[in-house]
Amino acid sequence: MHVSFDIAADLDLNLKDAALISLGPEGNAFVPEVRPADPRHGDFQANGVLGYAKARKLNPRAVAEQIVAALRDNTKVQFEVTIAGPGFINFKLKPAGLLAWLQTYDSAGHLRTGASEFYKGHHNLVDFSSPNTAKQLHVGHVRGMVIGEAICRLLEFCGAKVTRDNHIGDWGTQFGKLIWGYKHLRNDAALTSDPLEELERLYKAADAAAKETPATLDAARAELVKLQSGDAENLALWKKINAISSDAFQEIYRKLGIRFDYEYGESFYNDKLQQVYKELTAAGLAEESQGALVVFHPEHPRFKTQPFIIRKSDGASNYASTDLATMLYRVEHFKADTIIILTDTRQTDHFEQLWLTTQKWFAKTGRTVPHFEHVTFGSILGEDGKAIKTRSGDPIKLKALLAEAEERAFALVTEKSPDLPEADRRDIANAVGIGAVRYADLSQNRSSDYIFAWDKILSFEGNTAPYLLYAVTRVRSIFRKLGLDAYDPSVTAGATAPATDAEIALARKLIGFASTLRLTTTQLRPHFLCTYLHELAGEFSTFYAADKVLVDDPAVRARRLLLSARTLLILETGLNLLGLRTLARM
Ligand code: ARG
Repeated sequence: MHVSFDIAADLDLNLKDAALISLGPEGNAFVPEVRPADPRHGDFQANGVLGYAKARKLNPRAVAEQIVAALRDNTKVQFEVTIAGPGFINFKLKPAGLLAWLQTYDSAGHLRTGASEFYKGHHNLVDFSSPNTAKQLHVGHVRGMVIGEAICRLLEFCGAKVTRDNHIGDWGTQFGKLIWGYKHLRNDAALTSDPLEELERLYKAADAAAKETPATLDAARAELVKLQSGDAENLALWKKINAISSDAFQEIYRKLGIRFDYEYGESFYNDKLQQVYKELTAAGLAEESQGALVVFHPEHPRFKTQPFIIRKSDGASNYASTDLATMLYRVEHFKADTIIILTDTRQTDHFEQLWLTTQKWFAKTGRTVPHFEHVTFGSILGEDGKAIKTRSGDPIKLKALLAEAEERAFALVTEKSPDLPEADRRDIANAVGIGAVRYADLSQNRSSDYIFAWDKILSFEGNTAPYLLYAVTRVRSIFRKLGLDAYDPSVTAGATAPATDAEIALARKLIGFASTLRLTTTQLRPHFLCTYLHELAGEFSTFYAADKVLVDDPAVRARRLLLSARTLLILETGLNLLGLRTLARM
């Protein structure tokens, strides 16, 4: 029996097909609206008949009956199809269909092949992390990094081409003070031992000095002017500062398993700004206002009066000028058809104005308008519900937070398994600690703020990394005790279709991986996958408590091993997509 990966999507197509056959050309207007159903009624439900029939003053039950009668035979082989209430169509996958799905999607590779239907041929450029040079990464930066990495992995898994670009903030007025500070206040020893820390200190010290003495402020400004006019010494210093900063960022990216294809920072676009000013002016979109170049959007309630400043009155470029040039480059050079940029919600206005401007600009100049997503996220709060800070009121450095996570996880692992060699405990602590920080973030709807609490994120209960990583090791241990490899096909050969309530419930949850992936990637919200994996682990626990795996009947045993093996496969695949490293034992 052939089953498609995303059964709901397939049903949707088959229903549209059946509507055309049974309702004639008018059937084109029928939208099936297939969704996962309340398990008491079936696995999927199509609600679309009601709206269709109502709009045409038809009897919905009669329409539903016509459509069901026209469904292709393969649908009828796979499902028990019933019509309920005023015209809902319910689909219950037959146990043989569940078995076929579990047998077909037997490896990460096959899951990937199935999921590849979603994004065939799409090229997404994902701009994430994108921190500013010479500043330490703090806890607030973690969201963009881990959500961005998860989005990239998910889209790649689903067959999209993904280009990862770290749009570093490496150009701007802060370089005047940085260069002045570097020249006058630098501590070479500190620059070797903790370079980013020292750069940050230099900036703060220079900033304080500039506030104190006007002459210093002038000197810092002069350094900036020299840099901008291409002075060789300052340009070399600017490069050096960026390199130091980038090295320090890389250390954290490595720790978090984050990678980029490009690091085209803001400075990369310096020579591409004139074209932006020229084209926007020629297109009649930009106008001079008090010396600045600005864009208004008359159709917008706020942006009709609140300008998008694309060149400052002193002639200098800004965030907006660079982002406009970046949009163009990503479409023309990278040929991206979708551009995804991650920042916190505070930049919503900027990106709304950027996008309004880009659409009009591209349309006027005959360019293809890409698809654009500004993926926003809320803040991380401390346990008091306020912005998370150290006791002295400074932002918490990400490096310190990750180190603390590993230390805390190490203590936990040592308590649980004191007999494991220390190297093993360190390795487990790394996966659990880093995984916990990452999962805590990903499991929350990214639009909301969330409270960061060590006890909660490191708990072995609830929707947490430790719980899920432990669930993986539990399934692994079933196979280890039997001396079997969960991924060896002979282990599950001869399995029969799920039969007990717990088996069927688990099998249904497993096939739900497909619609979860689709939901997660269309909304670019990793928490949907987290919720699913947590529920899957729970369903597995119920099954494991209800049905003994090691029974004498070889067919029953094989099918319970099959369910266990697929639980392991999907848990591991899902956690890896979220960026977590899974373990064989804990
Ligand atoms: N550097 C910016 C910041 O730290 C984020 C950049 C996001 N990307 C972009 N193309 N504007 O807020």
